[in-house]
Amino acid sequence: MSVLLQTIKLCLNRKPYNTSYCKCFSFRNKSDNSKRFITFDEVVAQRRAEAQKSLVVQVNSESSFNELYGYCSKYATVNDVHHYKNSNDEHYMLIEFSSEDNMKDVLQACSAHQKDVDIMSVQSPFLWFRAAPGAKEKFPASNKLLAVKHGSCKIDEDVLFDELQNCETVSHQLQLLYDQTKLNDMDVRLRYMVARQLEVICSSLYANIAIKPFGSSVNGFGKMGCDLDLVLTNIVAPEMMDSKRRLVFQEKKCEGGRSPWQRHMELVATLLELRAPGAARVTRILNARVPIVKYSHEMADLECDLCYNNISGVYMSELLWLLGSLDSRVRPLTFAVRRWARACSLTSPHPGRWITNFPLTLMVLFFLQQKRNDGIVLPSLKYLVKMSSKEDVRIAEENLNCTFLRDLNKLPEDSYSQSKDDLQTLLFQFFEFYAQFDFQDKAISINEGVPIRKPNALPLYIVNPLEQSLNVSRNVSFEECERLKTEVRNAAWHLESVLDGKKTDDWGLLGLIEKKTTRSLKKLLRVGNTHRLVSVKDLFVEDGEGSEIKKLKTDEDIQD
Ligand code: GTP
Ligand code: MG
Repeated sequence: MSVLLQTIKLCLNRKPYNTSYCKCFSFRNKSDNSKRFITFDEVVAQRRAEAQKSLVVQVNSESSFNELYGYCSKYATVNDVHHYKNSNDEHYMLIEFSSEDNMKDVLQACSAHQKDVDIMSVQSPFLWFRAAPGAKEKFPASNKLLAVKHGSCKIDEDVLFDELQNCETVSHQLQLLYDQTKLNDMDVRLRYMVARQLEVICSSLYANIAIKPFGSSVNGFGKMGCDLDLVLTNIVAPEMMDSKRRLVFQEKKCEGGRSPWQRHMELVATLLELRAPGAARVTRILNARVPIVKYSHEMADLECDLCYNNISGVYMSELLWLLGSLDSRVRPLTFAVRRWARACSLTSPHPGRWITNFPLTLMVLFFLQQKRNDGIVLPSLKYLVKMSSKEDVRIAEENLNCTFLRDLNKLPEDSYSQSKDDLQTLLFQFFEFYAQFDFQDKAISINEGVPIRKPNALPLYIVNPLEQSLNVSRNVSFEECERLKTEVRNAAWHLESVLDGKKTDDWGLLGLIEKKTTRSLKKLLRVGNTHRLVSVKDLFVEDGEGSEIKKLKTDEDIQD
């Protein structure tokens, strides 16, 4: 039976959702004011304000809460305390105070770490709670509880897979994967704290500086543990541009052969090394087209990429965030596709000749812009530009026009979410769509929302939405593009067979997101027959002549 006919059959046979799924799936009621769409700027402003009145304090354990809460309450009003543990098993409390002034009162009452002539004291929002000297101060048990315990803890993969196994439908699986793996509130707070720390340190040298997270930390498609992309910007308030003001700051032009950006980034990298507690393994990649500084934040357990003045990156994140907010199916679907691509090694944590999460996300958005029987899920970017007004005008670096509608409440209700397909249907259709897509001649453009003619012969062409003359997948090789085509076909076949009814070990999403080797290991370790079980060593094959164990057995090796 053709895949298309099969889809129709599946749609007709679709089981009704169970109630819990329906709840997650509900569309926003736009007549209800309390549920209106908020803007990206509002979210960012709220998160930055939160960070400006928060501190991160290293403590002994989560049971330090009462003492820390009592101690801080002597100086300021505490709003909430969130606890997390990093991968070094160190405990931290992120404390939000009622105002920035309140938080500053606490900072005033801090001391330096130790009297060591080699250490220049530094004030940043990352602190340490010293054990009480002498007799312990008694704090009355507060009626305040930790807002969050183990806030930044990733779900155990085995637990996740068991839960996915027990889902009733594939749609339910997609929703569960999204709910269990997306960035949580604690994670987002921590990301804004890391940005804030660097902002505080740099602002002693630079005026009007802002450090903002962008990319998957803020675009709604970030999963727990994703990297933190940061951009350092120089924001000059409009009144500072007033030519009627007669006293003007003398300014300093960067001297020397290298570009000013490279030199500023070099300085920031040094500041990270010398002045930012928690920052480690600082790497300068300053000769790239976009110079970046990479570092690990050990207290926050984050890998950070800092770039300079890349405002268009923030607008791109805003665009993705808006499209993800418009319909509640967009993010779960994208999470599933990103996870599937990682499992079949289409994406990799290392850069190379393969597709990355960002263009993959554009592929999902583009698919959702296609007209199905009952219409589109998402509008084109062209439409968002058409609906924009004066207050939406944004010009980024190099005069890049990043104007599009920011307030989604202004969109006519019938201009999106027309298609009411459930998540499992959309996932299947996504694979079907790309299994049949004419990669040879067509480019993917979320600006147009329909395939357009490819301007060159690169294997994969995905138009950069904010700079349409550029291809965001220009790095993808012919072989990788072929692999993408093969994998989308395989995925469609897999879903086609499981959607037919039978629940096997790898039914639905499981067969798409579980790495083959992991699956084999798990199967083996679950085998009841002791004669098949085996030491961990038996799961590896020797590579070459030596007896050294080199690589994990593949699925096929393990099968017999
Ligand atoms: P993950 O980090 O993989 O979770 O996803 P991400 O969306 O954060 O991607 P990445 O860290 O690779 O890039 C960060 C952001 O930079 C993206 O979200 C985009 O906004 C932007 N970006 C990434 N690749 C490109 C590109 O090829 N061209 C342009 N103009 N922007 C890009
Ligand atoms: Mg990223």
